Amino acid sequence: MPHRYYTGEKVEMKIDGQVHELPVVVGTEGEKAIDIRTLRASTGYITLDSGYANTGSCISNITYLDGEKGILSYRGYDIADLAENCTFVEVAYLLDHGSLPTRDELSQFSQMLNDFAMIHEDMLRFFDGYPPKSPPMAILSSMVNSLCSFYPEMTDNPLENIDKMSARLLSKVRTIAAFSYKKSMGHPLVYPRHDLSYCANFLNMMFDSPVKPYEVNHKVVAALNKLLILHGDHEQNCSTSTVRMVGSARVNLYASVSAGISALWGPLHGGANEAVMEMLESIHQGGGNFRQFVERAKDPKDPFRLVGFGHRVYKTFDPRCRIIKQACDEVLDDLKVVDPLLDIAKELEEVALKDDYFIERSLYPNVDFYSGIIYRAIGIPTNMFTVMFALGRLPGWIAHWKEMWDDPAWRISRPRQIYVGPLSRPFVPMDQRGL
Ligand code: SDX
Repeated sequence: MPHRYYTGEKVEMKIDGQVHELPVVVGTEGEKAIDIRTLRASTGYITLDSGYANTGSCISNITYLDGEKGILSYRGYDIADLAENCTFVEVAYLLDHGSLPTRDELSQFSQMLNDFAMIHEDMLRFFDGYPPKSPPMAILSSMVNSLCSFYPEMTDNPLENIDKMSARLLSKVRTIAAFSYKKSMGHPLVYPRHDLSYCANFLNMMFDSPVKPYEVNHKVVAALNKLLILHGDHEQNCSTSTVRMVGSARVNLYASVSAGISALWGPLHGGANEAVMEMLESIHQGGGNFRQFVERAKDPKDPFRLVGFGHRVYKTFDPRCRIIKQACDEVLDDLKVVDPLLDIAKELEEVALKDDYFIERSLYPNVDFYSGIIYRAIGIPTNMFTVMFALGRLPGWIAHWKEMWDDPAWRISRPRQIYVGPLSRPFVPMDQRGL
């Protein structure tokens, strides 16, 4: 496949006495991969890489990560610059379109988000069917999948409607998230308003009420914009790879994103932000003795892990964590909120980072370690933290799904395996089994 990333460089692989040449792909930042697409046909061998820690699934223009240097950029822009200077809607546009929007482009995009903010009134009945304690991520995943039933035209000719589908999804997921919270509280729904920005609208839908109007606090809006931007994309993480995997079978955007939401739910992935708060809360309830948690995390016989620590790619500080940690102090100070969990988190980080177990394994705080402190300070309930992660990650999922659909070399994702089960054996009729 003629790609400007093939420099002509090759590697040699000697298999069963024969030397095989495989082409090398070189990325923008010099990252190299061995293209093994002809390996099985020419050698009969496949590669094995459980968890895909050494395997690239695609070539992508969207996000660059350097796990050793702690670098993260979206379409070439460093996330620190984006988090400092943009709104989430600007960054969502950047991720999905490849460039920062002009003033006019941003105004048109914002208008589309407003136009698509409502969900079909028939969808409201779904909320009545969920038991009161339904997990918000389960509701979100099924409601997003239901969008295919209400907007089938968007899935028949996807690429002609991709801008509409993206705006529809970005706007409606925000409404579904807020409505599911109001439903869980037994409070009346608050509808989106066209006079509020994306994040202000979400906060108003979450916290406004007929008896106590919500006053939009611009510092809270700024904090939420920053958090959603920092969650915008993260190359081939578990949930994004899931969106690509499901979408690769030519599944529409809504159903592909619904699968991504389910993957993000896991406590090893996006669900970690809720688990961090539960861990910090139990340390606090136990009198602040976080050392026992550090010791448990180090014990190979104990399945407990220090949630919010460690990362498959980052072997230094997660750059998002640095920004969020600093924002914690600013937001809590702005809102005059004192949260003992922040001090516990900082002390826990300090102790862990000095411990050989964590140092030897390059375990640092990740994006989930501090984010819950801010969500809590702005009033988001803990069981909605992973929903907030999904809101932020949505533009990244959309961008990757679209990039895959646009790729002329795209094929359905279907990994191979090595079978280690029983050798072929004769069938045993029921009356001879167990004899
Ligand atoms: C996210 O992929 C992404 O980009 C994800 C994400 C995104 O933006 O999409 O960044 C978001 O999911 C962040 C991660 C949130 N999860 C957690 O905080 C859960 C706690 N962390 C771990 O479970 C773990 O670190 C993972 C899941 C994040 C990474 O797992 P890996 O890469 O498979 O690492 P591993 O399990 O092979 O661990 C290597 C070693 C092991 O010890 P040894 O067997 O070598 O003795 O490090 C240990 C692990 O036991 N280890 C931990 C640990 N994380 C790894 N030990 C204690 N506490 C931890 N948190």
